[in-house]
Amino acid sequence: MKKLIIANWKMQLNYSASLSLAKKLAPALKAGKNEIVIAPDYLALPAVSQILKNTKLSLGAQDSAAALAGALTGEVSPVNLKTFGVKYVIIGHSERREHLHENSAVINAKIRAALSRGLIPVLCVGEKSTEKENGETKNYLATELRHALKGVKIASSQGLVIAYEPVWAISSQKGAQALPSAEAAAIHQFIKERAKKLLGRTVRVLYGGSVSAANAGEFLQEKNIDGLLIGSASLRLAEFKTICSL
Ligand code: PGA
Repeated sequence: MKKLIIANWKMQLNYSASLSLAKKLAPALKAGKNEIVIAPDYLALPAVSQILKNTKLSLGAQDSAAALAGALTGEVSPVNLKTFGVKYVIIGHSERREHLHENSAVINAKIRAALSRGLIPVLCVGEKSTEKENGETKNYLATELRHALKGVKIASSQGLVIAYEPVWAISSQKGAQALPSAEAAAIHQFIKERAKKLLGRTVRVLYGGSVSAANAGEFLQEKNIDGLLIGSASLRLAEFKTICSL
């Protein structure tokens, strides 16, 4: 089955570097068997959207507002994201939860707003090292899922994706290392069961956190791992091409 691979460029590239990477990726990834999504920053989004037109690559955004319009200084509406051809929206990334204090209520509202415009939310969940050390990973994930998906209804034509990213495994964290793929697959199984109870349907679950060309194949081989959310390695053209071709 097709896997979903999302490049989360975060705020790592300036405008011209974003366009230049997108221009190189578009022809390089045209024959891939997986669905590849590029999520640039907001300002690069319209130009990257043009570059990806008529290619097999999809466009993602790194966030979207909790409402469709209103007095929300600095926010970007799902309406405008849709206008520029965005298909997937990353919501609740741990960096936003930590640095911008995004809480579950906001994340829940963002998911609803994105769904109402036909965008596919990519809800990020993941335990921090404290929860892992205390053996509370599953409880923690269950709580994050319950709050983020509270009252969320998905029509059969709509999609929702969950990205499991253990916070301690994200490459920007000190000493970060990817979770071994078999352990990740077991947690994915747990997340799928929980999400099914909450949403009444099966969702795709991606793994994220220190994915590289060296370990991506192991994750992609696991049947419960439906794809990858990739930060650093997605900025390295040759490495990202290798991952996408696995
Ligand atoms: P990383 O980031 O691949 O650099 O660990 C993943 C993410 O934060 O989405």
